[in-house]
Amino acid sequence: MVVGEVIPLVFSFYKGSEFYKAIALEGTLGCTSIHVIKIYYQQKNLMYGGFVMIKNLQDTTTLLNGVNMPGFGLGVWQVKEGNEVVNSVKYAIKAGYKSIDTAAAYKNEAGVGQAIKETGVPREELFITTKVWNADQGYESTLTAFEQSTKKLGVDYVDLYLIHWPVAGKYKDTWKALEKLYKDGKVRAIGVSNFHQHHLEDLLADAEITPMVNQIELHPLLTQVELREFCKSIGMKVEAWSPLGSGKILDNPVIKEVAEKYNKTVAQVILRWDIQHDIITIPKSTKENRIIENADVFDFELSAEDMAKIDGLNKNERTGPDPDNFNF
Ligand code: A2P
Repeated sequence: MVVGEVIPLVFSFYKGSEFYKAIALEGTLGCTSIHVIKIYYQQKNLMYGGFVMIKNLQDTTTLLNGVNMPGFGLGVWQVKEGNEVVNSVKYAIKAGYKSIDTAAAYKNEAGVGQAIKETGVPREELFITTKVWNADQGYESTLTAFEQSTKKLGVDYVDLYLIHWPVAGKYKDTWKALEKLYKDGKVRAIGVSNFHQHHLEDLLADAEITPMVNQIELHPLLTQVELREFCKSIGMKVEAWSPLGSGKILDNPVIKEVAEKYNKTVAQVILRWDIQHDIITIPKSTKENRIIENADVFDFELSAEDMAKIDGLNKNERTGPDPDNFNF
């Protein structure tokens, strides 16, 4: 390269608390610095509130380490091992889903693995998440648990490996094991689940690698605004578990009214609200028609007013335990 030469440059930056990805197509190389002349946002037409919004079921969001993760997937919490989970995963893959979220604790990794194998979809086209269970936390035990999970899943690498819950006194050693798995190339990305801000701050004080994802309970009755802002400020993606409030908020009258306006279902409106907030979402269903319905959320856009209406439903109401107070 020579001084004055026009160079392409891909980079990311913060503006306020918003994380931007951009491509500077016309920069010039100075003696000691790079001058950006023009910035073209990646997929400019898709920029929404400072991030690139996914536009279809296969579309991805970029994690802190550059790995592309589908922004929408199938969750299989509470899906029974055997036919139930095998069929759910098969329905999802047939409908175009690429991301499947399981965990050792769900006791259905083998069924997820069986479905993947039977569909014949190339491994690299899928994005598989699993999690280390609380009883297995600690350095050596996490490494062993990971081997067991991959064996059950029938895969030689996992796309995203998460610490399932912040077990006090253990999660830092567990994180060291996840860092090792990451450095050894056995996982493409690592993250946590159910971490409050104070858990993250404590972890980050010693972590070598910043977690790329925090998967938390998140839905219109538990919008987690502060935690989302914190995660965003350090470039960590937020993923919602139980995005439909475990099915318990599907009769919410406010969302029903919004849904009627767009000729969509309540589930679709909630999942669309996730997408427009840059929240990775993984609704669970065992029914083929609902798996298809849940993913049919890319042909409409909620207005700012309707987004605000749904934001306003927050009651800090959990369907699961508070990560500061669990006993498992
Ligand atoms: P089912 O598996 O019988 O379809 P969450 O993802 O928040 O945990 O919610 C999952 C719950 O919501 C499950 O009980 C699931 O039941 C139900 N569910 C998932 N998608 C839909 C949908 N589109 N319409 C109604 N219920 C749904």
